Amino acid sequence: MEYFQQSPLQTKIYKLFLQKIPMEKTLVLIKPDAMVKKLAGNVISELYNAGLKMIGLKLVNVKRELAEQHYNEHKGKPFFEKLIQHITGELHGNENVIAIAYEGEDAIQKIRTAAGKTHPEEAEYSTIRGKYGRHVSSTDCFENVIHASDSPKSGEREIYLWFDEDELI
Ligand code: GTP
Ligand code: MG
Repeated sequence: MEYFQQSPLQTKIYKLFLQKIPMEKTLVLIKPDAMVKKLAGNVISELYNAGLKMIGLKLVNVKRELAEQHYNEHKGKPFFEKLIQHITGELHGNENVIAIAYEGEDAIQKIRTAAGKTHPEEAEYSTIRGKYGRHVSSTDCFENVIHASDSPKSGEREIYLWFDEDELI
């Protein structure tokens, strides 16, 4: 059997090469609408196609305080209360949420593309929201299946909001 051994110089060059790749972290939440429809497996399976590394995963019973911190930027908007009721499971029989942290090159854009547009009726059919989402007019809830961080900065903030350091690989 042949072994490939890197010289110290090769190791240094490889490390420098790795540093040039913009590694991003992103948070995905599989929302209560998807949980109640037993879609978690399908969603995770679709997200595998993004080719990212999963660095954390857990089931969370979302309390209002966490929900409000997470969606802080939307405080004051007309849909805020509905949004909080959605993510805490109030609209879906107190269902939980699966939180997943991913890391990889261009992770934010890759997951946002896989998720599709915010309004499920505007999302491409091939996307997660286009396939599994719907707008419920009686509650005016965008049952849009997943949350996905929208920038590297929010990715970092949200991951450390939802996960303790020792829960991440
Ligand atoms: P998230 O990944 O959940 O953050 O969605 P997003 O980044 O695609 O959209 P955005 O952050 O702008 O909105 C957060 C959430 O608020 C959305 O996922 C929807 O559930 C909800 N939302 C946004 N806009 C509207 C709206 O116009 N009406 C209603 N009813 N809900 C909205
Ligand atoms: Mg958002």
